[in-house]
Amino acid sequence: MRFPSIFRGDITTLKVDAIVNAANSSLLGGGGVDGAIHRAAGSQLLEECRSLNGCTVGEAKITDGHDLQAAWVIHTVGPVWYGGGRDEAALLRNCYRGCFKLVTENNINSIAFPAISTGAYRYPLELAAEIAISVALEFLGTAGSGDKCVIFVGFTPASLEAYQNVAKVVLGYELALHSGD
Ligand code: APR
Repeated sequence: MRFPSIFRGDITTLKVDAIVNAANSSLLGGGGVDGAIHRAAGSQLLEECRSLNGCTVGEAKITDGHDLQAAWVIHTVGPVWYGGGRDEAALLRNCYRGCFKLVTENNINSIAFPAISTGAYRYPLELAAEIAISVALEFLGTAGSGDKCVIFVGFTPASLEAYQNVAKVVLGYELALHSGD
């Protein structure tokens, strides 16, 4: 089984089959990573998103990557963090599982994730990293998925550190750094 790796920087620069967007329910763009992805993909992404009729929290939908290097964008809507008592963990887990379901259905070999919900939606970084890593390991452990390349993107030093702290606890060592090529 190939373990997930980590990339430090902007997800829109990655040459992978699919990048994940931390979107909102409208799927019509926003700030943060959503804004960066729409800017880099061009206006055709917004056009395509208009035809999807939005997305509920925990769900994932796929579009073309348009002007991005990535062939696909998988849009998912993470939960807003209200302290943990509103099913936030289950909803965030559904986001990752929904993305991996689309990976399987579309024969995607490499996928990069931003730290969904950890910006504007305030999900604590380490709790989110724990879910991201555990669902990725669950996926990579299933038959036929072991060779897929899963990359977590640490855009800020704090998110990079959160992934590595969790990896040390869950895996016993840090995630390998992805070069970006
Ligand atoms: N590449 C990778 N990661 C990024 C980038 C980027 N270019 N820009 C921001 N990030 C990181 C942030 O540092 C944060 O850790 O993505 C993570 C998620 O932050 P947000 O983009 O704010 O997403 P989220 O917390 O899920 O909130 C979603 O924000 O912009 C809106 O439309 C979006 O309303 C939705 C909400």
